[in-house]
Amino acid sequence: MEQKLKHVDIPSSEITPESLYLSRRDWLKVMGIVSAGALLAACAPKLSGITATGSGSSPETQGAPVPDNAHGQTADEFGNPLNTFDEIANYNNYYEFSTAKDAVASLAADFKSTPWAVEVDGLVQNPRTWSLDELLRFEQKERVYRLRCVEAWSMVIPWTGFQLSDLLAEAAPMASAKYVEFTTLMDEEQMPGVGSRFYPWPYTEGLRLDEAMHRLTILATGLYGKPLPNQDGAPLRLVVPWKYGFKSIKAIVRIRLTEERPQTFWNTIAPDEYGFYSNVNPEVDHPRWSQATERRIGELSRRDTLMFNGYGGEVAGLYAGMDLSINY
Ligand code: MTE
Repeated sequence: MEQKLKHVDIPSSEITPESLYLSRRDWLKVMGIVSAGALLAACAPKLSGITATGSGSSPETQGAPVPDNAHGQTADEFGNPLNTFDEIANYNNYYEFSTAKDAVASLAADFKSTPWAVEVDGLVQNPRTWSLDELLRFEQKERVYRLRCVEAWSMVIPWTGFQLSDLLAEAAPMASAKYVEFTTLMDEEQMPGVGSRFYPWPYTEGLRLDEAMHRLTILATGLYGKPLPNQDGAPLRLVVPWKYGFKSIKAIVRIRLTEERPQTFWNTIAPDEYGFYSNVNPEVDHPRWSQATERRIGELSRRDTLMFNGYGGEVAGLYAGMDLSINY
């Protein structure tokens, strides 16, 4: 992870979000999913005996449940305004392209995100390869989430996407499946950063199966009602809003169910700095900096960082009985 926090060249006057973005239906049209039949089919995926986990009740409860349809919402559930499209699309961490946040957008401009396929395999009863068009038939939701990077900056982003639980239900995990591993495309021709021998490519990430099944865990396919910009992980990236941003892996080509905890990119590089769980936790500092506060892109003063990034009301139950200073 980048060690020095670089100055961001984003005018603080630009805090007005794009208030006019497409309705869900218009968005589906943009993405080429127009038929009512396709929509209906998507709304009724076969269930395979597993369900998404719901709200946990815990003393750490914070924040109201995040609504599924945030269309037209200009702030998160705490009233924090959305970051602008320009902020979200020009300040990026995507090491396959560059370690310079302001260089990613231009380096990724010609990235080929269609056609695209995602392999879902490992400990599942129904292994198969999904095309992007097929994945877009899962019920697309609009969710406004805070993204808190482990480097102590944050944004509020209006994503479009579907619950990973919908896809995993189709795959039907076997009883032995305990974890989910995600892998990013590794294409040296398109991704100049992949040439760097310092990093253990491809970028991989992992979740416990119950974390992956949680309703807040989505595969994002768009933001601000538009298809995902290349620099934000087109055509498909994970978003796990209560964890540090590096868990939200971009440009996913493979989702594998495993019994063993998967190796992850950052945990392989520095296990004492980037734990497997990496839940946002203001009380557990990074060995080289405090995690108590953060800088919201577009704001001048720092804010307090919230436990589980403010999603404790929905997710704290996943970690009941665990010591989060050990399981960081
Ligand atoms: N995914 C891949 N494949 N490569 C990366 O370098 N960076 C991560 C995460 N996903 C990264 C990645 C980090 S550190 C963060 S904070 C978020 O993406 C940033 O997402 P954004 O650029 O859309 O804000």
